[in-house]
Amino acid sequence: MAVSQDELKKQVGYKAVDDYVRSGMVVGLGTGSTAYFAVERVGQKLASGELKDIVAVPTSKRTQEQAASLGIKLATLDTQPSLDVAIDGADSVDRTLNLVKGGGGAHFREKIVEATAKTFVVIVDESKLCDSLGPHFPVPVEVVPFCHEHTARIIKALPALEGCEPVLRLGSAANNKRDGDQPAVTDNGNYILDLQFTKPIKDPRAAARQLKSTIGVVEHGFFTDMASVVLVAGKEGIYERKP
Ligand code: A5P
Repeated sequence: MAVSQDELKKQVGYKAVDDYVRSGMVVGLGTGSTAYFAVERVGQKLASGELKDIVAVPTSKRTQEQAASLGIKLATLDTQPSLDVAIDGADSVDRTLNLVKGGGGAHFREKIVEATAKTFVVIVDESKLCDSLGPHFPVPVEVVPFCHEHTARIIKALPALEGCEPVLRLGSAANNKRDGDQPAVTDNGNYILDLQFTKPIKDPRAAARQLKSTIGVVEHGFFTDMASVVLVAGKEGIYERKP
């Protein structure tokens, strides 16, 4: 019988916790439908006593609520500035393990938390793998609401983002389906521009640098050179990719 995508997400979320989380660790908890299962697994193992003394740093209000409901002890980077491990999903993973994240609108908090992790474990099903970033999934960019149309025009003209079409996300920040008529608002009170591409992005690192230096941009969804390991759930099982 074919394994559903949800089942693959669960398998890879559970395996990441089983393989990479040990008692006493400070753990970054990601956001999204795959990370959901990793959070669930941490909660299960704490409840059964298989894990003890875990402190977790959540990457969104949604994850904070899920973790709190499971009795997981929570902290922020202000008191736990370095993580042993962080586990999170991704929207795109290219051949060199550069990522696009932020389909769930949480990429700012994800990046600030995951950048502090000694090991950043990315968990995906095979549908997230692509040859190059861009056409596979729009690149989310969190921008301040003030003059966001102006910021969108500046972004569209950045040389490393040639051909991109910035689209203001509407509805809920937690999905990129633009299913509303008001701008989506992030946990940080900002808007999201989803950059749509029809051609592969030639140099994601340059694109990341140019976005980062654009006034009005809070954070972009390129996660370049951050993944320590990617766990991929496919029909044949779960396999690891390392940089
Ligand atoms: C949240 O903003 C995102 O970065 C998610 O981690 C990413 O979109 C993957 O989410 P899913 O596991 O739901 O596909």
